[in-house]
Amino acid sequence: MILHTIAEVREQVKKWKKEGLTVGLVPTMGALHAGHRSLIEKSVEKCDKTVVSVFVNPIQFCPGEDLDKYPRTLNEDNELCEKVGADIIFAPSPKEMYGEGHILSNDFLTYVIPPYFYVNKLCGKSRVGHFDGVCTVVNKLFNIVQPDFAFFGQKDAQQLIIIRKMVKDLNIPVEIIPCPIVREESGLALSSRNKYLNNEQKGYALALRKILFNIKACYDKGIKDIEALKETAYPYLNEHHNLEYLEFLDADTLDEKKSADDNTRVFIAVKIGDVRLIDNIML
Ligand code: PAJ
Repeated sequence: MILHTIAEVREQVKKWKKEGLTVGLVPTMGALHAGHRSLIEKSVEKCDKTVVSVFVNPIQFCPGEDLDKYPRTLNEDNELCEKVGADIIFAPSPKEMYGEGHILSNDFLTYVIPPYFYVNKLCGKSRVGHFDGVCTVVNKLFNIVQPDFAFFGQKDAQQLIIIRKMVKDLNIPVEIIPCPIVREESGLALSSRNKYLNNEQKGYALALRKILFNIKACYDKGIKDIEALKETAYPYLNEHHNLEYLEFLDADTLDEKKSADDNTRVFIAVKIGDVRLIDNIML
């Protein structure tokens, strides 16, 4: 069942809560793939009722990013959700979420601003304001749906850490459930943005997975020096790859690591043509 208004979702959730049912929320921007599907399946398994939100959130896109061309496939998304057993797709318009005229600057809208320490690294460095938009919309979704559990993918590990921090700092009564990265058979992490890649670029995109898996293999063989581990990446990169970052950070706190250990997550972002891809792996 697709619902487009906040009032309808609130009414439905209120009924469920009266019956003592638990509610899971899977926030998405749609163009659902097997990565999203795994989150929805986890929610359906764990919770009595599942809400999937599908909303291409304008305030988390930076100027010049792909807001207009971001894939919108609500009918297919609905089919997938029904097949997997989700109870509601919440697909609001920007106007429904942000109001009449939806003036999206922080001169007019209350934002949730995550801490600088977590934002001023990895994707936050090039996507200024992105995580403000993410936290603001996720906080709104939490207030609208009031879920007991909310499901987020490790694919966006920085986002997951920032949302956990927001939930803790703002005492939001929801439990965040992290879900593992789902990959294509080739090893490429699934992403709605993979649709932008042509076949040749898809080949170049495999470098991300190769770099991360090779770093993990070297670490398992005993190499702990981060510079030495970073060096192993360069043979996989050519003129088609624009490396934005390759970083070794603490998986819980995003602190810099002096040397690699079992709580290190390796993060990579590469631009191939106009398409920006991210991936990560736990050592
Ligand atoms: P979106 O990119 O649609 O992702 C929705 C959720 O699916 C996120 O939690 C993301 O980490 C997860 N996901 C995406 N690809 C995955 C994969 N290959 N394996 C496992 N999980 C995967 O992330 C967002 O939307 C937005 O920022 C949102 C949180 C909805 C706020 O607008």
